[in-house]
Amino acid sequence: MTADLHELEQRASAELAQVSDLQALEQWRLRYLGKKGEVTLAVRSVGQLPPAERPAYGKLANEVKGRLEAAYEARLEVLKQEEVERALRAAAVDVTLPGRRPAVGRLHPSTQTLREIYHIFTQMGFQIYRSREVETDEYNFELLNMPPHHPARDMWDTFYINKDVVMRTHTSPGQIHVMRAYYPEPIRAILPGKCYRYEQVTVRSEHMFHQVEGLAVGKHITMADLKGTMIHFARQMFGPERKLRFRCSHFPFTEPSVEVDMDCILCGGKGCSLCKHTGWLEIAGAGMVHPVVLRNGGYDPNEWSGFAFGMGIERIAMLKNHIEDIRYFFSNDLRFLGQFH
Ligand code: PHE
Repeated sequence: MTADLHELEQRASAELAQVSDLQALEQWRLRYLGKKGEVTLAVRSVGQLPPAERPAYGKLANEVKGRLEAAYEARLEVLKQEEVERALRAAAVDVTLPGRRPAVGRLHPSTQTLREIYHIFTQMGFQIYRSREVETDEYNFELLNMPPHHPARDMWDTFYINKDVVMRTHTSPGQIHVMRAYYPEPIRAILPGKCYRYEQVTVRSEHMFHQVEGLAVGKHITMADLKGTMIHFARQMFGPERKLRFRCSHFPFTEPSVEVDMDCILCGGKGCSLCKHTGWLEIAGAGMVHPVVLRNGGYDPNEWSGFAFGMGIERIAMLKNHIEDIRYFFSNDLRFLGQFH
């Protein structure tokens, strides 16, 4: 009978040596030392032996039980320690690894250009006025001296929401809003924002882009004020040596109307591919506010006069940063956007 106990001890010890985690150890404990474990049963079986065999068997069974319990405790300690070490290793930070660069956002180049423009005009006393992007036909055209069916409407290819509502094709309708909001105060305001045109998207034109409108209304405003303002702007934005040219043009809402040209920033006027060999770059449309428009804004044209201008922000940004394709602005390519600090 005692041979059985020796065999049991050997088997249990050998198995214990194989146990490599706490879960397996617990199973081992139940198998041998649990309430119905083999060792426990062996100890309890003493009572069924012939009386003569009991003392020797009982003694050995208790010794085996004691040894296996001690071995269990020792193994438990070792495995717990290993578990702790494993957890520490998993949580460890390798300080020799290269760092991860945080992805820092930047302002969009159109926003950066707009902000430069705000800075220049606010220094001249202009306030920034926000006007709506969804406009009525009335504000986008009629109040700007373009009645229905006026051929000048063809200057803008328009997205119509319905027959009376449009996506504004230019920031000029804001002129009426700002005049109606401020009458009878004099006005010096710039009106920035998105404009929409139902156009073929090309290197030079997008169906959504930004404009900044300028409007000054006062008692003695003349064309000289418009010229001085545009010259100052161009020199602040593109360098003090810039020269401007005011070329006759036509807009229904200004009279007289001009196209504002700046000497080419690349060739200085000699002629190159940027200025298409003319020496000049167009930077804005402008003019003296048409009497009809002043009246529509609430200002009596016999007392008041004003100038207005409108420029394309992406065009300004393209000239300034030598960007050749307007489509880059809105295609969300980080290789492009990431270049502007
Ligand atoms: N609104 C005109 C355009 O989009 C530009 C402009 C604004 C011209 C103000 C004159 C005065 O083309």
